[in-house]
Amino acid sequence: MKIAHISDIHCNFGTDFNEKLFEKAISMVNKVDADLVFISGDLTTDGLLPEYELAEEKLNKIKGKSVIVPGNHDERNLGWKLFPEFFNETDFIHNYDDITLIGLASSEPDRDDGRLGRGRHRLIEEGIKKKKTTILGFHHHVIPVPHSGRETNIIEDAGETLDIILKNEVPLVLMGHRHVPWAVKIHKTLLVNAGTFSCNRTRAHFGNTFNIIDIEDDEIEVTVVNIGKEKEKKMIEFNLSDGCCLNKYYDL
Ligand SMILES: [Fe+2]
Ligand SMILES: [Fe+2]
Repeated sequence: MKIAHISDIHCNFGTDFNEKLFEKAISMVNKVDADLVFISGDLTTDGLLPEYELAEEKLNKIKGKSVIVPGNHDERNLGWKLFPEFFNETDFIHNYDDITLIGLASSEPDRDDGRLGRGRHRLIEEGIKKKKTTILGFHHHVIPVPHSGRETNIIEDAGETLDIILKNEVPLVLMGHRHVPWAVKIHKTLLVNAGTFSCNRTRAHFGNTFNIIDIEDDEIEVTVVNIGKEKEKKMIEFNLSDGCCLNKYYDL
């Protein structure tokens, strides 16, 4: 199974959204021909109706299946009411052939920090029971992300969430929010952050990126695609059954 993981699109009529780059990026995603496109939030910058309309128009350009969870920016200005109108449920368990994808809203109205809470922790445990390869996806980060500056907005219940993830050996967690691509293995779990897809607020030389996740038999491979430079770099290789990992250490 191939997943294109994109995040932090930031549709906006101010300076955040790089529309020209978005168009290029979306054609690159469509060329990947992924089985699924997972979008980990911040589709908008201020959660405004015109931004949601723009995000819907832009994301309709994705060929094939896509699933979306909201980010902190999407919850601003009553945007939390708009998200389900435009992009369906905020929390879900989807089953594919060999994969269970659990999508969760880690964001809360008018707050930048994140939280999953007991209800969503229960949903994780419910999804794990499906006994397939479990992928967890939400917007905020669960551990600090290198190269992303002063630590803020990590989910409030990161410790409890990490405990559930590690105890149950959830193989893959997909996140965004920090506008930096990153992957690290802890115990038998691969934690992966996608950078920003089309926001002008990039960090240093990281640029705009998206990740390609290849899951085949027992192997998970994560590749970062730099959209501006049209370059790909393998970030990490991970073996599901023994938790072994070849970390390419993704850096500037
Ligand atoms: Fe963002
Ligand atoms: Fe965010």
